[in-house]
Amino acid sequence: MKAVPGVLLLWVLALSACERPVVPVNAQINLAPPLGLPAVPLPPDSPLTQARIELGRTLFMDRRLSHNNTLSCAMCHVPEQGFTSNELGTAIGLEGQSIRRNSPTVYNVAYVEQLFHDGREFSLENQAWGPLLAGNEMANPSIGYVIEKIKVLPDYAGRFEKAFDGRGPDVLTVGQALAAYQCTLVSANSRFDRWHYGKEQGALTTDEQAGFRLFSGKAGCGACHVVGEKHALLTDNRFHNTGIGYAHSMGLPKTHRVQLAPGKFVDVEDRALDSFERPLADVGRYEVTLDPADSWAYRTPGLRNVALTGPYMHDGSIATLEEVVEFYDRGGIDNPQKDPLVKPLGLSSTEKQSLAAFLRSLTGDNVQKLAAEARAAQPADTPPEKDPASTYRRSY
Ligand code: HEC
Ligand code: HEC
Repeated sequence: MKAVPGVLLLWVLALSACERPVVPVNAQINLAPPLGLPAVPLPPDSPLTQARIELGRTLFMDRRLSHNNTLSCAMCHVPEQGFTSNELGTAIGLEGQSIRRNSPTVYNVAYVEQLFHDGREFSLENQAWGPLLAGNEMANPSIGYVIEKIKVLPDYAGRFEKAFDGRGPDVLTVGQALAAYQCTLVSANSRFDRWHYGKEQGALTTDEQAGFRLFSGKAGCGACHVVGEKHALLTDNRFHNTGIGYAHSMGLPKTHRVQLAPGKFVDVEDRALDSFERPLADVGRYEVTLDPADSWAYRTPGLRNVALTGPYMHDGSIATLEEVVEFYDRGGIDNPQKDPLVKPLGLSSTEKQSLAAFLRSLTGDNVQKLAAEARAAQPADTPPEKDPASTYRRSY
C-alpha cells in the first residue's frame, strides 16, 4: 500500500474537523421528539437557542435566585430525583417554610397546557415568577429586585445580551431563559414506547404487557392518562376529583404504616405524626375557576418517569406505586364531586402487580443524561457584594 503523504493526511483531518456541525449559539434549535411523544410545543415568539438553554439551565441551578442565596429551583425539582423531591410529600421553601403541595416533575413540562396542580398558569415564561416571588418559596421582595440582582452578578455579565439580541435581564428574558431550558427536559423512548410504538417485541415483559392491557382496558386508567395512536402524553391535561383533596381538606383519618423494629409494623393515624402546623387549606381547581363543581379537582399528571417521581398526588400523600394502584382499586375516596370514572375495580393481586410493573416501564432512556447536564451547569455561588437594591439608580 502506498503511504499517504503527511500533508495530505493533515488536510483530510482538518477538512473532517470542519465538517463536524458547529451549531452557532444563537441558531434556532428544533427539538426532535423522542419515540412516544408528539412534536414539542414551543412558544412561537421565543425561538429555542443553545445560548438561551444554557443560560436557563444556569439560572435553574442557581441558589442566588432566592432572596437569601440558599434555594435554587433545582432544590425542589432535584435532577437526580426525577426533577422532583423524593423525600418530601409537600415542598419546603425558604427557611423551612411549608408549602401545601408536592413539587411536580418538570420532565416533559413543555407539553403541560395549564401549569401547577390547579392549572392557574399558562406559560413557563410567566410561571417562573411564581416560585421566585412566593414568600414561602424563593421569597424575593419583587420582580425588579431579582432583575437588579442578576445584573450585578459578574458571572451573568453579557450572557442575557448574547442570548437575547442585546436585551439584558428583564421580566421577560428571565422567564424565557428558564422556559427554554425546561422545554428541553423532554423524556420518552421508554421500554413501553419501544414495545408499543416501536414494535420491539421483547422490550416489555409479559407481566408489564398485561399491566398495559389493564391500564387501557379493565382498570380504566387510559380514560384520563391518555395513550394515543402515535404517542402518549399519559394525561388528558384536564382536572378531576379523585378524592385525595377532599380527604385532606376534611381531615379524614388516614393511617400510615410505621416500622417499629425490623419486621414489626403498626398502623398509626397520620394525625399523630403531624407537626403542630395545621394542614393548609387547598380546594384545587376551584381556586382558579371559582366554580364549586371544580372543588378538589387537580390536573391529571402525565405518568412518564413516574417510577422516579414519588411521592405521588398533589399533596404527596401516596408513597409508592403499589399504594397508588390500591387507591384506585378501592375506587378513590368517596365525596359528592368524585369523578364517576374513579370507581372500585376489583383487581386481583396479580393484576395489581402487573399494573404497577407497567407504570415502572415508563422511564425515559435519557433521564441520567438530563440529570448530569443539569449538574454540569455549576453556577457560581458568590452572592452580590452589596444589596442589589442599594446599587440601583434609575437611568432614564
Ligand atoms: C420550595 C420548592 C420549590 C422551588 C424553589 C421551586 N419550585 Fe417549582 N414547584 C414547586 C411546587 C410545590 C409546585 C406545585 C405548586 C402548585 O401546584 O401550586 C411547583 C410547580 C412548578 C412548575 C409547574 C409544573 C407543572 O407540571 O404544572 C414548574 C414549571 C416549576 N415549578 C418550575 C420551577 C422553577 C423554574 C423554579 C425556579 C425559578 C421553581 N420551580 C422553584 C416547588 C418549588
Ligand atoms: C378520572 C381520571 C383518572 C383516572 C380514571 C385515573 N387517574 Fe390517575 N390521576 C388522575 C388525577 C387527576 C391525578 C392527580 C390527583 C392529585 O394530584 O391529587 C392522578 C394521579 C395519578 C398518579 C400519581 C402521579 C404523580 O405524579 O403524582 C398515578 C401514578 C396514577 N394517577 C395512576 C393511575 C392508574 C394506574 C389509574 C388506573 C387504575 C389511574 N391513574 C386512573 C386522574 C385519573
